[in-house]
Amino acid sequence: MTMRVLGLAFRRAALALGVFFLAAGAAQAAYKTPPSPEAPEKGDYWLGEEVYKEICFSCHGLKGDGKGPNWKASRPRPQVFTSPLMKRMTDEYVFAVVKYGKMNVLKEKMNGFKLKFSRPTAMPSFGEVLEDAQIRRLIQWEKGFTTGRQARDPEMKEIFEAACVQCHGKAGLGNGERPLGSQDPSKPFVSEIQPPPMNYTLKDQMERFDDEFLFWLIKLGRIDVSEQKDFNYMQAYGHVLKDEEMWGVVRYVREAFINGKPRAKK
Ligand code: HEC
Ligand code: HEC
Repeated sequence: MTMRVLGLAFRRAALALGVFFLAAGAAQAAYKTPPSPEAPEKGDYWLGEEVYKEICFSCHGLKGDGKGPNWKASRPRPQVFTSPLMKRMTDEYVFAVVKYGKMNVLKEKMNGFKLKFSRPTAMPSFGEVLEDAQIRRLIQWEKGFTTGRQARDPEMKEIFEAACVQCHGKAGLGNGERPLGSQDPSKPFVSEIQPPPMNYTLKDQMERFDDEFLFWLIKLGRIDVSEQKDFNYMQAYGHVLKDEEMWGVVRYVREAFINGKPRAKK
């Protein structure tokens, strides 16, 4: 394992420092229906299991619950693969995150690799339109979606509806107009915004973020909070793993955790 992660420090240093702007109303793509995440795709499950148990488990956990040995050290905490939120991520997006690292995907620095059906979308920044005190109040108000006990705060409700609903949805489910597009209602919903906007009702997901992270996230946006505030993010593995191994791990994560159906031992 040490051999494989050795290159990480170098890769981290190589990440560009460019400032990135993403307007809340940016580029409405012409939407197409993304492929069903259940569709059979490439990737060898057993090879993927090997890679997962060698590298990924240390953060994401052997059970895919995001609670590997390193989970507390990482900010935000590792993605929970058993969460319903993962069903909205396409295999291609997951592959790109593993190969290029999450920040490079958000910045579309993927050496010519293009995501089909969707564009990477980062949570935009609101530091220009919201005051610090408003951001803190908004965080507390939004927590009501997670706990199910929402305080009455008409001003925050108004801000949420004006600034957040288009992506996060009226009930905070992450199913606003922008991720939804026009999809076949008989198929599982896949967010056309990759990664999908957060679903606030998923407790295990929201627990990954502390208030300090959320404050800077809303103020600076997803890319700048990771870079300027050095909140940890998902690094690239393209320099230590072959494409075949990464497709394998995508297959393994999809079947064993997202679909919750690990294969019986060979
Ligand atoms: C050092 C800890 C660490 C290791 C090791 C690690 N990850 Fe992650 N991973 C994270 C963190 C932290 C996040 C959440 C990133 C975020 O929200 O910015 C994440 C997120 C993800 C995501 C979701 C992307 C998204 O948009 O939320 C995928 C998929 C993923 N990791 C796959 C993998 C795979 C596959 C491996 C093994 C090859 C792996 N990770 C190894 C820490 C790690
Ligand atoms: C253009 C779409 C968009 C808008 C508008 C938007 N968000 Fe987000 N939001 C996202 C996306 C995409 C993510 C997932 C980010 C990730 O995983 O990297 C996210 C994630 C989050 C998260 C969870 C943290 C995380 O890293 O997943 C919080 C909290 C949040 N948004 C709050 C807000 C608030 C508050 C507003 C309104 C002031 C808002 N968002 C407006 C797209 C949006």
